[in-house]
Amino acid sequence: MTLPTSELHGAMPVCDITVVGATGDLALRKILPALYRRDAENQLRPTSRIIGVSRSPLDAAGYRAVVTEALEQHVGDDLDPVVVERLLARIDHLTLDAADATDWHLLHAVLKQDAHPADREAVRVFYLAVAPGLFGPICHRLDEIGVVDPTARVVLEKPIGADLASARAINEAVGQVFAEPQIFRIDHYLGKESVQNLLVTRFANTFLEPLWNSRWVDHVQITVAETLGVGERGDYYDHAGALRDMVQNHLLQLLCLVAMEPPTYVGRETVRDEKLKVLQALKPMTPDDVDRDTVRGRYGQGLVDGVAVPSYTEELGRPGSATETFVAIRAEVQNWRWAGVPFYLRTGKRMDRKISEIVVVFKEPPHRMFPHHEGTQPSPAANRLHIQVQPDEGMRLHMTAKEPGPGGIRLRPVSLDLSYAAAFDARMPDAYERLLMDVIRGNPTLFMRRDEVEAAWTWVEPILQRWAVTPDRPKRYPAGTSGPTAAATLLERDGRTWQESDLD
Ligand code: BG6
Repeated sequence: MTLPTSELHGAMPVCDITVVGATGDLALRKILPALYRRDAENQLRPTSRIIGVSRSPLDAAGYRAVVTEALEQHVGDDLDPVVVERLLARIDHLTLDAADATDWHLLHAVLKQDAHPADREAVRVFYLAVAPGLFGPICHRLDEIGVVDPTARVVLEKPIGADLASARAINEAVGQVFAEPQIFRIDHYLGKESVQNLLVTRFANTFLEPLWNSRWVDHVQITVAETLGVGERGDYYDHAGALRDMVQNHLLQLLCLVAMEPPTYVGRETVRDEKLKVLQALKPMTPDDVDRDTVRGRYGQGLVDGVAVPSYTEELGRPGSATETFVAIRAEVQNWRWAGVPFYLRTGKRMDRKISEIVVVFKEPPHRMFPHHEGTQPSPAANRLHIQVQPDEGMRLHMTAKEPGPGGIRLRPVSLDLSYAAAFDARMPDAYERLLMDVIRGNPTLFMRRDEVEAAWTWVEPILQRWAVTPDRPKRYPAGTSGPTAAATLLERDGRTWQESDLD
């Protein structure tokens, strides 16, 4: 079969990228460094431009200085002065406030400029690196000044809303200005190399897929653990919490990629169609399910990498906060492939390690044919595939082998290791590099469609609602640990344990 991939890998068009929120953390830490990297690889056409929009009273020179500093900080040693100059030459800045219509016509004037008549058919990209409450108002401004043409694209960062109703309201407001194919909702986990490789590993090889179902898989664990606390993002985070910040998007997207059916080909909608089916197959949670199958925690004081750190409420300066910084959930995908296979999800801040990992635990062999001497049996969960998303992207297949030597058969666990760094002598690009180029090319495969976002909220909503009315507060865990003990109990109850990777 000929794959219709041409729709996804067209030539890179000339583009004008307007970054609204241009002096914010996301723009300076992720977006501009990603554009620098792509410019270094000659992926930005010579006449493509970057227009920073923020409330800061900066002219182009002032913003270029801000960008230079950000590149020094976030690209670091690799900075090539020639590429920096080239990137800076593309940059302009406008001081605009979403709440005030007065000067927005200036953006229209900049985008209309006819600097290079031959290729001023630039694709307009509007990257809204701002709080979601501003998505609707800014789209409205863009519409008012007449810069939204049929090829324009808008990029939205998660979180899309704080619950199903607010997500719908945002999608409605943005949808009044941009058609769905023009809307690119970022979940940066989908831009990670190792996450994309998950699809390739599953569907470009033959040996896994026959085992990838309830007949052979005992359960799946998905962990996204961080050692950082909430830092400067306390105001946002205290309203969000780990369920909204991580589970509704990143963890559910990982779950989708593990659980989805193979699409016929990798096309604009085909992967998203399959992910949507997984979200729709998630078993809805009743209040009793929420009480039994979810754990929320919050870090207290502790030691992270040998350094004493304050508790969440101390870091935040709000002793009364009831926000969770840790979540563990037992989920189920109710379809033919996965009936009865639990998916355990876990994420937290200030944990003992930074790791994002998927562990597929296979069932035990149907028959034990080797002698049953103490120490010679494979441990439970002997066969498991660890897919490490970060750090040190790679895979580790745990198996049982015979320990060499005479005098009987002794079984020992061994692992087959695949490190991407060792297998491919290449820099791992940041997720934003891939995603930004996909926006410019108009390839939506790795972005969340409206129905996906709303399906994810639909599943999360009963958890939010139940937590809002239960008197329990999040369970305390000392910073620098693997979370509250209740998270371990969630699996022990089912006769299972969290499989922690040895991080070398
Ligand atoms: C973001 C969350 O989406 O993802 C942050 O808002 C979190 O709270 C971050 O720290 C984690 O991303 P990564 O790529 O460092 O795993």
